[in-house]
Amino acid sequence: MCGIFSYLGNQSNAGKLVVEGLKKLEYRGYDSFGFVEAVPATSSGQGNGKLKLTKKVGKISEFPLSTFYFPISNLALGHTRWATHGKVNLRNAHPHLSADGKVAVVHNGIVENHAELRKELQKKGVKFASDTDTEVIPNLIASYLTPRFTGGLREAVRRAAKKLKGRFAFVAAAEGAEKLVAARSGSPLIVGIEKFYPKSDDRLISKIDGSAFFIASDVPAFLKFTRDVVYLDDGEMVEIEPSPKNDHFHAHFFEIENGKTVKKRVISIDWKSGKAEKGDFAHFMLKEIFEQKETIERALNQDERQIEKVAELIRKSFGAFFIGCGTAGKVCATAEYLFAKIARRHVNVIFGSEFDTQEPFLTNKTLLIAVSQSGETADVLEAFKIAKKRGVRTVGVVNVEGSSVARHSDVVLPVNAGMEKAVASTKATTAQLAILTLLAYAVAGKLDEGKQMLAEAASQINDLLNPRYSEHLEKIARKIKNVESLYIIGKAADYPMALEAAIKLQEVSYIHAEGFAAGELKHGPLALITKGTPLIAFVPAEEYRADVLSNVAEVKARGGRIIGVSAENDELFDEWIRVPNVGNAQPIVNIIPIQLLAYHLAVLRKNNPDLPRNLAKSVTVK
Ligand code: M6R
Repeated sequence: MCGIFSYLGNQSNAGKLVVEGLKKLEYRGYDSFGFVEAVPATSSGQGNGKLKLTKKVGKISEFPLSTFYFPISNLALGHTRWATHGKVNLRNAHPHLSADGKVAVVHNGIVENHAELRKELQKKGVKFASDTDTEVIPNLIASYLTPRFTGGLREAVRRAAKKLKGRFAFVAAAEGAEKLVAARSGSPLIVGIEKFYPKSDDRLISKIDGSAFFIASDVPAFLKFTRDVVYLDDGEMVEIEPSPKNDHFHAHFFEIENGKTVKKRVISIDWKSGKAEKGDFAHFMLKEIFEQKETIERALNQDERQIEKVAELIRKSFGAFFIGCGTAGKVCATAEYLFAKIARRHVNVIFGSEFDTQEPFLTNKTLLIAVSQSGETADVLEAFKIAKKRGVRTVGVVNVEGSSVARHSDVVLPVNAGMEKAVASTKATTAQLAILTLLAYAVAGKLDEGKQMLAEAASQINDLLNPRYSEHLEKIARKIKNVESLYIIGKAADYPMALEAAIKLQEVSYIHAEGFAAGELKHGPLALITKGTPLIAFVPAEEYRADVLSNVAEVKARGGRIIGVSAENDELFDEWIRVPNVGNAQPIVNIIPIQLLAYHLAVLRKNNPDLPRNLAKSVTVK
């Protein structure tokens, strides 16, 4: 949901460095991109002169570095956009400059009161050049930077940030000032420090020294340079500037509200940059599907004390809510079935964006279990705010280490799937499913049994995921690649998987796909079936097999083309997708061939499965 990346340091190729970093953040938005470089005033590289702006419409990955001319510069800020306000075109691409061209801003989020602020600024004579909400930010900053204003860029940014309503993360630079100032409220912002040298071993400090600093929406942008990071929290800002001797750089942290200094902790993260490459795979999505050979096993590698602690919290809670959005929301929905079956316990499931409707029921006995790959989904973070207000305990099942969900949860169960780059979630999904299944066993007091069952399923997945299996799915994809609609059914925990299968197919193949509870078809959706309409059915090996096959037969009788996902073939199936029979781990196994089917449909229909149209990996707006 928009990627921000900026650099201030001792290298003189800041523009190139920012473009390279933005390429790693492309998954956050790929409608357009742009960057500003502060070009030195003299040819020998002294002082900061004008802000040089470059913008393009389209995906940054489609523009080789040779497209650009990078002048000598040690300060640059860039942005890759997922459009919210204003069409996808050059004038709405970031960075945005103030009307006088002296302040540049890159922003992720939504300024909810932009119309009001725009009017105020227009009354003062400011002329706007775009349709974005963002453009008010550089203009607000510029409005403070009058010759009589002594506060400098930092104070101007602070005052501007205080006027903004909504969620934001932005970075600002100004002509003639060798500094970057950034502020955060709701959207992620991480400071990377190259050659971090603390004065002591204490990593909780208010002023940090380094040879260079990066400010980004996500870690991959600067992973090749450093693993030392500071996560900005809501209501905080950072100023980066040269040291008095001009031999290195400082970062200072402040509160937006009152400008007071805040102490921040420098954390060394252990992400591996190599994991973000495609290797021999044509796309990240395919690579990540195949990584499930090991990621499910890795998900099981939990600290048992933590799992038991969460199990105890669930047992003791008066109302446990599993929340997530999109795919993570479907993962949560399986919990309702898994906990009923394995632990004989009712749990509540609700999308992050709907959680506020439950506020009247929240007390300090309630438990919130948030499932999120990115840990930055705005709807989930909003739920956290409500939960904290009501004294609700929180658990995060989260993939991205150091993310907002991870930092704000009372207990974290790490998903351990490694970096997931493709917008369509695959390996994080099955790892989350494994953790929720394990948790249901822990609540039942049968953690070891759960571990064993899931480890067995993981090894069966290892056997299943091979090139021949993928080719089989490709063959099926060829047969259905031109259909207008397709439907998916499942019963019990396979029902949320039918919903998840639909999301996967929608987002990368762009075919109209819908999931239903198997028994629900006859109550309406059956009217949609005509000759040849594909129906993907998750047909259990044992329990409910007869029920689901009856529903399948009803579709077959109306000319539907049946694609059965099952451990055993059946005469009703036109196509059979074989999956092992793995008991309570069945949802994990069932979704994998549909991920492959969606992938092949995308490729056959000439869509880019890694960067589906209109979407972004991390949805940091409400
Ligand atoms: O990062 P999160 O797991 O919180 O993201 C939630 C959804 O935005 C995400 O699952 C989305 O639905 C995916 N594109 C699905 O593949």
